[in-house]
Amino acid sequence: MAPLQHTELVGALDCGTTSIRFLIFNHAAEIVAEHQLEFAQYFPHSGWHEHDPSEIIDVSHTVINKAVDKLEQKGWAKSSVKVVGITNQRETTVAWDRTTGQPLCNAIVWDDARTKGTVAHYQQKLSAEGLRLEDGTHKKGDEGVDALIGITGTPLSTYFSAIKLRWMIDHHPAVKEAHDTDNLSFGTIDSWIVYSLTGGLDRGLHIIDVTNASRSLLFDLRTLQWSAPLLEFFDLRKTVLPTVVSSSEVYGEISTSNSALEGVRIAGIVGDQQAALVGNKCLRRGEAKNTYGTGAFLLFNTGNEVVKSTNGLISTVAYRPGPNAKPVYALEGSIAVAGSAIKWLRDQIGIIKESADVSDLAERDPDTGGLYFVTAFSGLLAPYWDPAAGGMLIGLTQYTTSSHIARATLEAVAYQTRAIIEAMKLDSGVDLKHLKVDGGMTNGDLVMQIQADIGGFEVIRPEMRESTALGSALLAGSAIGLFGWDVTKPETLAQVNVRGNTSFSPQIGEEEREQRWLGWKKAVERSKGWDI
Ligand code: G3P
Repeated sequence: MAPLQHTELVGALDCGTTSIRFLIFNHAAEIVAEHQLEFAQYFPHSGWHEHDPSEIIDVSHTVINKAVDKLEQKGWAKSSVKVVGITNQRETTVAWDRTTGQPLCNAIVWDDARTKGTVAHYQQKLSAEGLRLEDGTHKKGDEGVDALIGITGTPLSTYFSAIKLRWMIDHHPAVKEAHDTDNLSFGTIDSWIVYSLTGGLDRGLHIIDVTNASRSLLFDLRTLQWSAPLLEFFDLRKTVLPTVVSSSEVYGEISTSNSALEGVRIAGIVGDQQAALVGNKCLRRGEAKNTYGTGAFLLFNTGNEVVKSTNGLISTVAYRPGPNAKPVYALEGSIAVAGSAIKWLRDQIGIIKESADVSDLAERDPDTGGLYFVTAFSGLLAPYWDPAAGGMLIGLTQYTTSSHIARATLEAVAYQTRAIIEAMKLDSGVDLKHLKVDGGMTNGDLVMQIQADIGGFEVIRPEMRESTALGSALLAGSAIGLFGWDVTKPETLAQVNVRGNTSFSPQIGEEEREQRWLGWKKAVERSKGWDI
């Protein structure tokens, strides 16, 4: 048997909405071994979406152990994995009991819309009582909304984690009791995974990185601290909150004996969309990427400055490259439904057998025959922010085919991406000439061509599209100086992920593009406020 290889490697645990994967990269960001598993999605009522936190941990252990098995089968020693980064679906909320280490209910997933009533309650509170700021002044009505967005960068919406936590306390007696008796721990998926991997009840760390914290409605974007006025506003104890850490530092080590990587340091934590920004090496102000996963998320690097959107985007922390480093911020446009609409065509409507079949079906017709699909399955996020918007197919005729529906599904994400790019142009003054893309949906050439046609810009798709996992690997490697990587110095990453790109240029004329865009805007207006 050949001797084991001992070159240094870096691992990345990518906990997405529908699957968890563990990838092991070398110095050039080539994937040496990987394993991925889907996990159960629970939809107990219309608009509800849950995960089982214990299953997330079990699946995380399995993918790590199976990827390490594959690594060893290829002749590498597992001790080659020097450090691990973690990246995660962001606003999904977990509540566990500090005295038992056990979850108190299922996690509420980021795209769950059950909290509409909670949002309405706090909107009402904001206009009637207002937000009491640290200087003692009360900001009510529009001033209150401005103050809240000014602190957090985000609007009151079902999307963010404090609203989900508040719902759990109000509706699950066990969560309320844990909050009342000060035994409650709140976390996003990064917090829950790190807590479990570092030893859970015995010695597990209760932490969250700045990027995930910035999705909570409780976090002050500028001070990078939990906001006392918002804790008071949502009537939450500060003790439920995790300690905020940077996106790149050694937090602790994997301490569970059932992990093949017991003893390996965890040194990067970052929300998955921010991870993809880093993985795409969009490390300079003005660089942007769009990730087409379950949803689609366009992030635009604004450097060390928080840019406040006046056009429906959110301001968020992109990454903080060390505990004492300046944070890098981003403007973000979040689209709730992208790949999940294709899964819907497959699982609920049954017009395709596999997700990848959507392109073949859509290609059977050259257009949608005038059909538009507003995929507002749980309201609309950016830039529309309407929790009451209803999902809608409009323009149906006797002539409509399943191919038209498939194509309209692909077009829906392209139109929403265009809406976000227009908002970004207004907020930043930058007119994007090209867009870097990644994520599962970008495997299809047709959807990328549709994006270029509808957007009127060039779409650039890298050959290596595991940007999310790579971003967390880069932040973890950077924390310990592995391979000389330093995310604050893009030149140190010159050898990383240098494989080629495919680009897609617009192939339809300006007049057709604008006519179709007008149709989309009309369709969105019809879908708004559909709350019956
Ligand atoms: O904000 C939600 C986002 O983090 C989910 O990402 O890749 O699972 O669609 P993804």
